[in-house]
Amino acid sequence: MSSDKFDIKDFRRALSQFPTGVTVITALDDSGEPVGVTASSFNSVSIDPPLILWSIDKGAYSLDTFRDTEFFAVNVLGRDQVSTSNNFASRGEDKFANASYSAGIGGAPVLDDYAAQFECKTWAVYEGGDHLILVGEVVDYRYNDGREPLVFARGSYAVSSTHPAMTKGQVDASSNEFVSDYLLYLLRETYNRYSQELYPRLMSEGGVTPEEWRVLAILADQPSKRLAELSPLVMQPESALRETADWMVGKGHVVLEGESVSLSENGQALAESLRSIAKQHEAEVISSLSEEQASMLKESLRTIIRA
Ligand SMILES: Cc1cc2nc3c(=O)[nH]c(=O)nc-3n(C[C@H](O)[C@H](O)[C@H](O)COP(=O)(O)O)c2cc1C
Repeated sequence: MSSDKFDIKDFRRALSQFPTGVTVITALDDSGEPVGVTASSFNSVSIDPPLILWSIDKGAYSLDTFRDTEFFAVNVLGRDQVSTSNNFASRGEDKFANASYSAGIGGAPVLDDYAAQFECKTWAVYEGGDHLILVGEVVDYRYNDGREPLVFARGSYAVSSTHPAMTKGQVDASSNEFVSDYLLYLLRETYNRYSQELYPRLMSEGGVTPEEWRVLAILADQPSKRLAELSPLVMQPESALRETADWMVGKGHVVLEGESVSLSENGQALAESLRSIAKQHEAEVISSLSEEQASMLKESLRTIIRA
């Protein structure tokens, strides 16, 4: 089936429903300069022999390097490495200026910070439509067990956390004194329940995804913002934010002028009505608290965040 059967943007959106981790893949080019790209197409292939794969866009500047290199390194990023991901997803001349690294096997740069790292020898290169599929044999690897990995889903950066279904019974049964009195658990459980209810409501009443809601909520108070400024606020890399913005232009919610995005009149009205749905939902969530308890709760949380 050829791609002209599909709307490309819609197909990309369908693919983005599958969450992945985020890696930076590195090698040395033929003049010995370090090269690196952010890639979420990394996956395991075989245990014995130990093989992994990833795919590179045939339009990437570093295509020739990765097609021809004998060695490359896969740096799996941790949750606090969003800026590293954005840096290596740019077409900047010197992506390594902001990175601490050393030379690994075959000289391929290994980043000082990582959740896991796989040093590979190129095992095979396959044609894959508009990408090349690169298979590497893992020669060495290491990982930081205590470091949570960075996640990428629906064009947004995310973190992995235990599924609410795995922890639900613990507080209900109040059998576990430690858990039911542990702040981190209480915050996460509250967040899980709260957000799980809100997003479907925003979809059914406003037809917007969580990613679009974040854009609307932020732009409601701003005349316009450059995509580069908005990107960290909505936790989307610029390329993915551009796609979100394109969808929102199609729905008539935002206006995109060059690099600047602002709400249309419709978008402003929608943002306001969604904000009132969010506020109404918040009121339901805290309805069992007195006004004083609710304001103390918020003030306490603000103090913790500031600290
Ligand atoms: C989260 C994320 C995942 C990405 N995954 C890939 C990928 O798997 N393969 C790819 O070729 N590009 C991917 N990209 C895009 C490249 O990182 C980007 O095009 C980069 O500019 C390529 O660098 P180069 O043109 O200097 O070679 C991804 C970008 C982001 C933000």
